[in-house]
Amino acid sequence: MIRGMMLRLSNGMQRVVPTIARVRFSSHTASCTASSIKHAERQLTPQELYAREDKYGAHNYHPLPVALERGEGIYLWDVEGRRYYDFLSAYSAVNQGHCHPKIIAALNAQASKLTLTSRAFYNDILGAYEEYITTLFGYDKVLPMNTGVEGGETACKLARKWAYNVKGVPTNKAKIIFANGNFWGRTLAAISTSTDPSSYEGFGPFIPGFELIPYNDIPALERAFQDHNVAAFMVEPIQGEAGVVVPDPGYLTKVRELCTQYNVLFIADEVQTGLARTGRRLAVDHESVRPDLVVLGKALSGGVYPVSAVLCDDEVMLTIKPGEHGSTYGGNPLACRVAIAALEVLEEEKLAENADKMGQLLRTELMKLPNDIVTTVRGKGLLNAIVIKETKGYDAWRVCLRLRDNGLLAKPTHGDIIRLAPPLIIKEDEIRECVDIIQRTILSF
Ligand SMILES: Cc1ncc(COP(=O)(O)O)c(C=O)c1O
Repeated sequence: MIRGMMLRLSNGMQRVVPTIARVRFSSHTASCTASSIKHAERQLTPQELYAREDKYGAHNYHPLPVALERGEGIYLWDVEGRRYYDFLSAYSAVNQGHCHPKIIAALNAQASKLTLTSRAFYNDILGAYEEYITTLFGYDKVLPMNTGVEGGETACKLARKWAYNVKGVPTNKAKIIFANGNFWGRTLAAISTSTDPSSYEGFGPFIPGFELIPYNDIPALERAFQDHNVAAFMVEPIQGEAGVVVPDPGYLTKVRELCTQYNVLFIADEVQTGLARTGRRLAVDHESVRPDLVVLGKALSGGVYPVSAVLCDDEVMLTIKPGEHGSTYGGNPLACRVAIAALEVLEEEKLAENADKMGQLLRTELMKLPNDIVTTVRGKGLLNAIVIKETKGYDAWRVCLRLRDNGLLAKPTHGDIIRLAPPLIIKEDEIRECVDIIQRTILSF
């Protein structure tokens, strides 16, 4: 029997396409029902699923070999029914847990009512969301976007406008300072600030007006601020993609002081660290500092939809006038409804407090791992990493493969670092079980 999915062609005829599709089709010539896809995909083995993605998709990722089909809370299930603890949380987008019922209910309710109006018109949800998020975080205004990198781009554009209109920087001379090791996405602006060759190599020429200094280096920051044309310093309170690099205590306080002293905007990129991930609503709350701009994304929708935002006060936000910035989907009713629910879940379920407690427990237990294999344990709240000593027998990738075999999904970064960042709803007995898995895995090498 041929295994396959039924396709309805544009000429009205039907045809079976083998599930390891060797047949080319496009959405213009064929359509298939959701149930036929579901039926067909249930029959594919993980190897067939990897092969299909490999054949038809761009090779811009190197996924760990596991084919997932379902998520609930802190768990993921693969197509063969195996259950895993999720220790990546989609790079901290799923802080509230997979398919959180309140967020999914909000999505469903709004999806059948009104999804997109564009910003050409008013709608009944956007203002409610704007009021909710600005009140929660204590800023005058919000600018809604979709992905994290768009949030970062928006913050840079706001900083440049402010530099020209308020600070008095000569036209086209504004500079934004970034720290080595930063990561804020994949657009041309974002990679123009990158120090990681795999991000920028082969994609030049790059966007001017960005400068780099070492992370966690206050004297270097002060030297950079001697230039009057500096508009902003954009920084992650903890560098996530660089491998969960935590700066010295007092760093953010000093950044705030210098930004105030030199009339430079402090932009906190909280796309990964924000929204309870590090044990506070924002990571900057650990030092009780207030950035001039905050960029949020990822968990702002609990992982169901791309939603990002920039928060700041009127002096900065109102420098952008109608027609000067925007996005068709930014601030759409579906996104707004989902984001309110996602933020409410963080507050109602006290996820920052839980992340703080569970993070301390996790790190305490991880510190007990043999330090000839795990050389470093670091992090805050539930944004953590271990550094694996690479030897001939193992490296971080191989450790992750064996963690997977033992029922826990994590992803290596930079060869020797494994990020450990479960959804923030995880409980003590679950943390202990996960530590047990990690310990068993490490000791098996
Ligand atoms: C700190 C930080 N900023 C921005 C981004 C970009 O977010 P997105 O992938 O949604 O564009 C990321 C993504 O990992 C991030 O970690």
